[in-house]
Amino acid sequence: MNNKQADKSPISLDYRDRNVVISGGSSGIGLGIARHLAALGARISIIGRNQDKLSAALSTIYEIAPDAAGYSADVRDAPRITECLTEIRRTRGEIDVVIAAAAGNFFVPAEKMSPNAFKTVIEIDLIGTFNVFSAALPLLRREDAALLAITAPQAQRPMANQAHACSAKAGIDMLVKCLAMEWGTHGVRVNAVSPGPIAGTEGLARLSATPEIERFVRDATALRKFGDVEDIARSVAFLCSPMARYVTGTVLDCDGGMRHGNFVPMQ
Ligand code: NAP
Ligand code: COA
Repeated sequence: MNNKQADKSPISLDYRDRNVVISGGSSGIGLGIARHLAALGARISIIGRNQDKLSAALSTIYEIAPDAAGYSADVRDAPRITECLTEIRRTRGEIDVVIAAAAGNFFVPAEKMSPNAFKTVIEIDLIGTFNVFSAALPLLRREDAALLAITAPQAQRPMANQAHACSAKAGIDMLVKCLAMEWGTHGVRVNAVSPGPIAGTEGLARLSATPEIERFVRDATALRKFGDVEDIARSVAFLCSPMARYVTGTVLDCDGGMRHGNFVPMQ
């Protein structure tokens, strides 16, 4: 492709005619992404385990995108994920964008973490992300296709009581780089967004058991505030659009500067 041809791709965040699948799209950050991309014109399919959660989420997406659809599946069940994505491809067209946002987490000291507790989080976060991306690959439109994982600051910074999530998310950061290397020749970009603490989400609630911890986490960001799901959705919309057509294998911190934040109280 020469530069003249490349310049035909739209310089905008227009998602009309873009077929988008979001695992973990039935609540929190995944749902925020679904609603934001729907508002930009995308055809949205969300995946989650719980049918009631899917229905409740869809009722909020229908206001924006009446053709949204939900699929009940566990990302640990690779054959079922392949079945869902194949059905989406068959009924809703070639897939342009796949976002892997499903995760499980809980706060537990490593000495009290059972092998199955560790394995469960690795299976949902890391293996689940691989299951979703590898099932999607043969079903993608091989032009401007984008895969995006939701990782976390735990991938880069060790956190107490988070050995499972730190290990899983670190694996996701490396997986994204490896798949970007291998799948670039297929015209597929693979990136990740790393959210900081996001207000009103299950993830933050599980890690901020007391007001003191909540304050500590907020003050660990450079901006001294929590983000919201819309902040994450905007970063995702950019990375999965042709605006980022030369960006692959990267992790974008959308964390209020948490990575560089000050853990010592300011005067
Ligand atoms: P959440 O509201 O609990 O959302 C999790 C989503 O994943 C739900 O749709 C859930 O639906 C689905 N899910 C969970 N396990 C699944 C499985 N085994 N198979 C299929 N779907 C599954 O969580 P959140 O706080 O918004 O977090 C979303 C993502 O952001 C996660 O990757 C998390 O690690 C990341 N993150 C969050 C924060 C934060 O502050 N919240 C910060 C950094 C990173 P079902 O339960 O129905 O399956
Ligand atoms: N502390 C210690 N161990 C825990 C735990 C906790 N709070 N919660 C679960 N576990 C252990 C269980 O005891 C079990 O281990 P065992 O068999 O040795 O007893 C193992 O983890 C699996 O638990 P189970 O409840 O069977 O897993 P599940 O597949 O039904 O659910 C979870 C997965 C545990 C991650 C559940 O919390 C979940 O579905 N979370 C999704 C929502 C979420 O976490 N959102 C935040 C995203 S950042």
